Amino acid sequence: MKLLAIILSLFFIVPIGNASENNGVSSLTPELQLLLSKEMVQLKKGMNQIMDAYVTGEWNDIVPIAKKMENSYVLRQGLSQDQIHELHSKLPKEFLSLDEKFHYYSGMLAHVSEKKKAELIGFYFSKMSETCVNCHSLYATKKFPSFKPNIEGDKHHH
Ligand code: HEC
Repeated sequence: MKLLAIILSLFFIVPIGNASENNGVSSLTPELQLLLSKEMVQLKKGMNQIMDAYVTGEWNDIVPIAKKMENSYVLRQGLSQDQIHELHSKLPKEFLSLDEKFHYYSGMLAHVSEKKKAELIGFYFSKMSETCVNCHSLYATKKFPSFKPNIEGDKHHH
């Protein structure tokens, strides 16, 4: 019984789309939103390339892509001081900490790819994907409505 309780509680820690849509991201200036969106498209490309290299054993190819992800995500690009301040004041703590996690896992992925450790490459790739899903289910439900909880309450009409 105790074990079951622990297992169940593990499931409930995972954040599944319970943040409201007005969550900080939509309050960013249009320039920053555009940067974020461009960066996301790059991330998606990078993840696809990593998957290709992973399953074909071309692990060296993963290194530069993972390093780029570690360093160039929007929250670390050459933003102005004002923009950095805007990101840190408007985005929720949880968003920033998911971003941190994402950087940590990309760094680890670069590292284990250099060492050609196939199982660990798979492990860190899946941890990275989890971070995409966790952040999207909290902060990108407008873009990805499948993550939305089934509450019809404050729907927007366009
Ligand atoms: C820390 C938060 C966070 C993480 C981590 C994250 N995303 Fe996103 N992503 C967002 C937000 C917020 C949006 C929605 C932006 C919007 O509403 O236009 C988004 C949107 C996107 C989009 C749509 C972009 C567009 O405008 O067409 C893609 C593709 C995407 N993410 C891919 C990824 C991938 C792949 C990963 C992981 C490798 C990832 N994201 C990790 C927050 C995150």
